[in-house]
Amino acid sequence: MKQLLDGFGRVHTNLRISVTDVCNLRCIYCMPEDMVFIPDTSLMTYDEIIHFTRIFIGLGVNKLRITGGEPLVRPGVPHLIKQLGQFDELNDISLTTNGIGLITQAEALYEAGLRRINVSLDTLNEEKFEQMTRRKVLSRVLKGLKTAHECGFNPIKVNAVAMRGFTDDEIVDLATFARENNYQLRFIEFMPLDADDIWGRNMFIPGKEIIDRINNVYPLEQMHLNGDAISDTAQRYRFADNGNEVGVIPSVSEPFCDNCNRIRLTADGKFRTCLFSITEIDLLTPLRQGADDVVIENLIIDAVAKKEAGHKINAADFVKPERNMSRIGG
Ligand code: 5AD
Ligand code: SF4
Repeated sequence: MKQLLDGFGRVHTNLRISVTDVCNLRCIYCMPEDMVFIPDTSLMTYDEIIHFTRIFIGLGVNKLRITGGEPLVRPGVPHLIKQLGQFDELNDISLTTNGIGLITQAEALYEAGLRRINVSLDTLNEEKFEQMTRRKVLSRVLKGLKTAHECGFNPIKVNAVAMRGFTDDEIVDLATFARENNYQLRFIEFMPLDADDIWGRNMFIPGKEIIDRINNVYPLEQMHLNGDAISDTAQRYRFADNGNEVGVIPSVSEPFCDNCNRIRLTADGKFRTCLFSITEIDLLTPLRQGADDVVIENLIIDAVAKKEAGHKINAADFVKPERNMSRIGG
């Protein structure tokens, strides 16, 4: 069977597909207020997404996440999920969303077969939410989360980007919120993928510090992971008293590139082997020009073979990718 092996022995089975770079928020760690979006004609159609998915499955992909921008601003995502659900080889399909669209779409997504979602929520404070996202819609996100919970989504993960000066005094509040509502909370260290160059080494909160702060209030037990979970980006813990999970994604302070099994397809059909890749491979143009599947397969196989060892955020020669987070896909 074909597989996507790189030069460091890593096998890639986990694909993230962005369906749009458009978003209804403007998180300061992700995109600028005056973002220019990819023209519609350059976006992969859903048929093209299905076509690529079939090719990737032939290369061993068995786990898929739909991302954006904000995926739910693109009409028809539930239908896409339903179509993707017909691939028996995919044993895991999930969606990353900012939650706003869940009020109206959670039910349709559930009916389409989706069971796992990640909702981005960095603060429970109305003013901070507006500072962070430049929009005043915290209550809609909270309502979206609740709707998803009522529909039966499980697990619901809540992702919070941890930024020094913003998140510090909310770490425990977010932990309380998540454990009481049975959401799995994950703090993500702020990475240099913003558009406004606000990232700096003093701007992220190390995962260790976050865990310590939570542990001081709610004793935690570390989970010991094996099998597929080794490629999990999160360091996972359980609250000793109620069994719910909480974790950190220490991308900057403790990179997990050695176990990476992730690859990405941008909304305009560019293949990326790393969030921080500075080159990408155009797959959509050859597809539209009628290239055979094996031609596209070989483009993917070659790109993975040359995958970078890891990100260089901590190295002197770090180069920020040209794409910011919303144009890469979370
Ligand atoms: N650093 C870390 N995480 C980020 N995200 C967006 N930009 C960044 C960044 N610069 C997160 C979002 C969301 C997911 C799509 O990526 O908060 O959870
Ligand atoms: Fe939108 Fe997500 Fe970027 Fe925030 S982080 S602006 S919700 S794409």
